[in-house]
Amino acid sequence: MSLPHQIGIHTQDFKALEGVNPAFLEKGLWMAREKTIQAYQTITSQLREGMSESEARRLIYTIFSDLGCKKHWHKPHARFGSGTLLSFNEGQETGPSCALDQPAFLDLGPVWFDSDTQLEYEGDFGDTFVLGENSAATHCANACRNLFQEARKLWHKEPMTGYEVYQFLKTRSSELGFILREDVCGHRVGDFPHNRHTKMSLSETKFIPSKSLWVLEVQILDPEKRFGAFFEDIL
Ligand SMILES: [Fe+2]
Repeated sequence: MSLPHQIGIHTQDFKALEGVNPAFLEKGLWMAREKTIQAYQTITSQLREGMSESEARRLIYTIFSDLGCKKHWHKPHARFGSGTLLSFNEGQETGPSCALDQPAFLDLGPVWFDSDTQLEYEGDFGDTFVLGENSAATHCANACRNLFQEARKLWHKEPMTGYEVYQFLKTRSSELGFILREDVCGHRVGDFPHNRHTKMSLSETKFIPSKSLWVLEVQILDPEKRFGAFFEDIL
């Protein structure tokens, strides 16, 4: 893995911020991502109208457990309707129930064991969907996903610091008529637990973050604040 290129003045040892176990393999992290996305699809197919956030969380735990995953580096979160305006951990389990024609998002953080490297890899994936039909909420969810893709594409083309990536997202969100939640700002991911290396957010990084070690999170709000959308994946 190539080391990041530091830009500007930063008082912390940026190499330490990107630490991994010596046995860590990048493909282990991508494998964890794939499994998490598959679980996401199973979960969304089983969410039902009227489910509360805590009922959805119990369902999520059951589905992961059935897939052989009993460890989560963060609790799974489900947000429904106007609860999608809130961040994943804001006012947990107090949001509205799952309703037809309303958006919902999931934020999943399972830990998957890889027998080849004997390491546990952190999955982290989140996305928004609409259970039923709501063209404005679907438009917001699509915009959120597209913002992520645009930012990642740009970062691959012209390497930028995490701070610069989020500045770009803020400008683009506003051009598209949405409000970026700036406190939802990305983080490290890796072999479990990544947080022994750092709890710094991606938007705080003043160096170019390495590929496959950071998660880019995007949450935008409808300008009328009826709902929001969330998407996150590995940078
Ligand atoms: Fe996350």
